[in-house]
Amino acid sequence: MGIVRDAVRNLILESAMGRLEFFMHPGMRNMWGGPFNGQRFRQRIFFDILHCLTISAIVETGTFRGETTALFAATSLPVYTVEINPRYFSYTKMRFLLNRKNVCLYHGDSCTFLRKLCEDGSVPKENVFFYLDAHWGETLPLREELEIIFSRWKKPVVMIDDFKVAGSGYGFDDYGPDKTLDLDYIDPVVSAFNLSIFFPAVAPSEETGEKRGCVVLCRECSAIRLFMKMNTLIRYEPHGLSLQDDEKECIEKRLTG
Ligand SMILES: C[S@@+](CC[C@H](N)C(=O)[O-])C[C@H]1O[C@@H](n2cnc3c(N)ncnc32)[C@H](O)[C@@H]1O
Repeated sequence: MGIVRDAVRNLILESAMGRLEFFMHPGMRNMWGGPFNGQRFRQRIFFDILHCLTISAIVETGTFRGETTALFAATSLPVYTVEINPRYFSYTKMRFLLNRKNVCLYHGDSCTFLRKLCEDGSVPKENVFFYLDAHWGETLPLREELEIIFSRWKKPVVMIDDFKVAGSGYGFDDYGPDKTLDLDYIDPVVSAFNLSIFFPAVAPSEETGEKRGCVVLCRECSAIRLFMKMNTLIRYEPHGLSLQDDEKECIEKRLTG
C-alpha cells in the first residue's frame, strides 16, 4: 500500500514540477541547441527524406521536452510521440496545449505505445517516418521497437539517434555489453527484415550542435529512392558492393517514369 501511495505521490509531484518548469524556465527546452540535438545537417537529412518519400506521419519515441517534436509538428503531418518520464511528459503537454493540434502526446513506455499505434485504425500504417530516441536508462527498448515497426508498418523509414557511425567521431550511446547503439546491436533485425542501412554523408566536422551519430533504416523499395535522390545520406555497403553508374541511370529512369 505504501509503495503505491509513494508512486502516486511521486507521479503527482513530478507532473507538477514539469508544469512549473515550463513556466519558470522556458530556456530548458533548448538544452541541446534545437531540434535533432541542434544538428543542422541532421535536419537537412530529415527534410530530404520528407521530400524524397511520401511520408504520411511521424512517430517519435523519447519526447523529452518536445524540441524535435516541435519541428515535426511544423510539417503539419500527424505526429505521435511518447515520453516515459512524468516530469518531461507534463512539460511537453503544456508546450503543445494551445497550438499544434497535429501532435498526439502519450505518457508511457515506447514499446507499449507502438503496439497501441498498431491497433489504432486512425494511425497511418504506410510510409511513416520513425525517430527512435528513447534510450536513457537501464532498459534499452530499441531492438523491440524495431521489431514492432518492421513487422507492423509498410515501408517505414527509421532514424535512430545516438548511433555509432563507424570510423567517425560522431557521439553514440553505450550502456554496456549488448547495449551499444551500433550495427551489431541491430543486426538481428536488419537480417530478419533484410533492411538497407544509411549513414550521414558528412563528417562530424561539418555538422553543428551535439554531433551525435545516427543511422537510417528502411526496406529496399524505399532505399532505392533515398539512394538515388539524396546526397545527405550514404548507403552502407557491408560487402563493398555498390551500384554502377549505368545501373543508377536505369533505376533513375524507372523512378521518373
Ligand atoms: C535523448 S532524450 C529525447 C530527446 C528528444 N527526442 C529531442 O530530440 O529533444 C530521451 C528521452 O527518452 C525518454 N525515455 C527513455 N526510455 C523510454 C521508454 N522506454 N519509453 C519512452 N520514453 C523513454 C527519456 O525519459 C528521455 O526524455
